[in-house]
Amino acid sequence: MTTETLTPDHKGFLRAAQFLGSGACVAFPTETVYGLGADARDDRAVAGIFEAKGRPSFNPLIVHVPGQAEAEALADFSPEARRLAAAFWPGPLTIVVPRKPDSGLSDLVSAGLPSVALRVPQHPVAQGLLRTFGGPIAAPSANPSGRVSPTEAGHVLAGLRGRIAAVVDGGACPVGLESTIVDCTAAPVLLRAGGVSQEELEACLGAPLGQPQATTERPVAPGQLASHYAPEGTVRLNVLDPQKDEVFLGFGPVGGALNLSPDGDLIEAAANLFACLHKLDQMGAERIAVAPVPEEGLGRAINDRLRRAAAPRV
Ligand code: TXA
Ligand code: MG
Repeated sequence: MTTETLTPDHKGFLRAAQFLGSGACVAFPTETVYGLGADARDDRAVAGIFEAKGRPSFNPLIVHVPGQAEAEALADFSPEARRLAAAFWPGPLTIVVPRKPDSGLSDLVSAGLPSVALRVPQHPVAQGLLRTFGGPIAAPSANPSGRVSPTEAGHVLAGLRGRIAAVVDGGACPVGLESTIVDCTAAPVLLRAGGVSQEELEACLGAPLGQPQATTERPVAPGQLASHYAPEGTVRLNVLDPQKDEVFLGFGPVGGALNLSPDGDLIEAAANLFACLHKLDQMGAERIAVAPVPEEGLGRAINDRLRRAAAPRV
């Protein structure tokens, strides 16, 4: 794939929106860092983000919208969430709020969680692209997994050239540091320090923010540990021959009615993963067996998620 460099004007926005509409990934500047965007309603497109980044696990992603009205269409805002949005949007603040059941968002953007992280960026290029595209854009930082976040189009190309459809070149990002993340699904908790300071947030709320719990091993990485989605039933992995009382989740030629990807396509499997786990809950599956998924490319992220789902529950 050749990666196009697009100009930060209407022509560039139209081309970028065209790519997004076709399910491709496009990098674009926000005031914090460059994001790697995809249509947040399209499971396959969102899976493409993880593939391009070579991410070994499915962290939930930030969904970008142009304004508060678009945000309210996707999620339920508590009074605190609304107060923070009114004070700091557009800007370098991300707010985690409960998804609306009919949000139309991909399950993959939330990694199966009932919440979604929303952000209204202030950068004129991000605003121009969001308004031209006319839909929510999921975007983590536009760097290969484990590498430094990009603050110039050249950084994006150095890491992702040939792996993404385009980058909109809007020059250097003014903040250069990722957005602050506040979880407002209950009393507000600071999940990640960033472009808006804790003091500013607390002054706005008139109360101290809760801190994320730390474990003995390492601080809780937002979205990585405690709250991750697991199905109700127990999960057994790498199964070729399920037992009679197990519901089988297949992959490729191994498996029956419920299959991550009958064609054995890892992008399709990633796109279907959370929907399949929800389906197993809806079916009331008590024992779940999962076919082997190859430990390569997106298969690593799929297996990471499945291993968490299969891990002993606390
Ligand atoms: O400045 C930024 O925030 C940049 C630009 C592109 O907007 N984006 C960014 O995205 O840093 P990313 O994917 O690198 O960081 C997203 C963070 C992750 O730590 C993730 O765990 C957390 O947000 N997150 C997303 N959805 C969440 C949710 N529903 N609950 C808790 N944490 C969530
Ligand atoms: Mg990042």
